[in-house]
Amino acid sequence: GLKKKEVNVLCLGLDNSGKTTIINQLKPANAQAQDIVPTIGFNIEKFKNSSLSFTVFDMSGQSRYRNLWEHYYKESHAIIFVIDSGDKLRMVVAKEELDTLLSHEDIRGRKMPVLFYANKMDLRDAVSSVKVSQMLCLENIRDKPWHICASNAIRGEGLQEGLDWLQEQIA
Ligand code: GTP
Ligand code: MG
Repeated sequence: GLKKKEVNVLCLGLDNSGKTTIINQLKPANAQAQDIVPTIGFNIEKFKNSSLSFTVFDMSGQSRYRNLWEHYYKESHAIIFVIDSGDKLRMVVAKEELDTLLSHEDIRGRKMPVLFYANKMDLRDAVSSVKVSQMLCLENIRDKPWHICASNAIRGEGLQEGLDWLQEQIA
């Protein structure tokens, strides 16, 4: 058959936001891990959908590893940025990391799509995806296509909608 287009996706966001859980859910059922542990450094995961072959760099969000992120900016075609919608206290930290990312010389001005998952929507005190986008000032992003989805990574809800959007942007 036709060779699928290869896409490098960088998965970023604070520690405990749910990045690894999301990437695990996007893999085929027989390739999914049962136990998710905090990521040390980063993991590389591969999966395909109908037209694309994804290589995902699932980065650790722990502060001591965040300096690794920038080494992968150049070779990435898209970004998935995950937010814990229940962690209002650290929303400002997430915004700082996002702003640093978007102003980096290897990212700024590039038309690479950015998909946001407002994750952990199941938590009782989770804020809505609209509120998350306001808190992160996403409307200020003008040099890139972006999209935000509410998700519950444990149940796999909201994830496919985001991936469909990403696929449209890349295809
Ligand atoms: P680091 O690797 O440390 O950067 O964290 P991470 O962003 O990869 O988070 P991870 O996927 O390890 O998930 C952290 C915790 O959040 C785990 O206990 C998950 O089970 C939990 N979690 C992930 N997604 C959800 C969600 O949608 N809802 C709830 N309630 N918990 C979630
Ligand atoms: Mg992880």
